[in-house]
Amino acid sequence: MARRGVTTALSLVVVFLGVCLPRPAAAKTATAQVHLSALPRALVVAVSPKQGEVLHAGDGVVTVTWSLNTTEPAGADAAFKAVRVKLCYAPASRKDRGWRKAEDVLHKDKACQFKVTEQPYAAGAGRFEYRVQRDIPTASYFVRAFALDASGTEVAYGQTSPDAAFDVAGITGIHASLKVAAGVFSAFSVAALAFFFVVENRKKNK
Ligand SMILES: *[C@@H]1O[C@H](CO)[C@@H](O)[C@H](O)[C@H]1NC(C)=O
Repeated sequence: MARRGVTTALSLVVVFLGVCLPRPAAAKTATAQVHLSALPRALVVAVSPKQGEVLHAGDGVVTVTWSLNTTEPAGADAAFKAVRVKLCYAPASRKDRGWRKAEDVLHKDKACQFKVTEQPYAAGAGRFEYRVQRDIPTASYFVRAFALDASGTEVAYGQTSPDAAFDVAGITGIHASLKVAAGVFSAFSVAALAFFFVVENRKKNK
């Protein structure tokens, strides 16, 4: 009986470990290369935090708004079907960090790694309240929005000024997934304690 309990406990640990391990990144689908420099800057993008304002990961909220630049001719957004908004490392937070390098070819770009939202394009303007995710690292950020056509290809963009970035104070010290693992194991140890307590008591009462 006790041995079976141990086996069950061990298999539970294995299952928990599996849940905690990071998942491999989804494979990128092959698409035509889109160059940022070739896209018209047709969207006007604004965010609520002021330059240098510090938001805390997991807590701070960024209101992002976008609209078609009024200088664009009527119908310039006829092909816009969706808007994809991303959080981008500001130049100061990319310096000497190859893994955050900005690339003109969009699918190679590593400066805009974090998804803020993707939603259907509503003629004129859009707005989204983004809570800074817990895994956003400490850095300066700006926001870029892409207009996508029916095939999901970027056809225009807009961004807040990279030089007027706001800051995120990341969850420091222990990585977020480690905290989750610690929580799971604490809960597990309490459950295991209760389990063996009951098993031992039953033995005694026999
Ligand atoms: C709108 O576009 C014009 C012309 O490209 C540009 O000069 C202007 O700065 C843009 N407006 C905003 C708010 O980005």
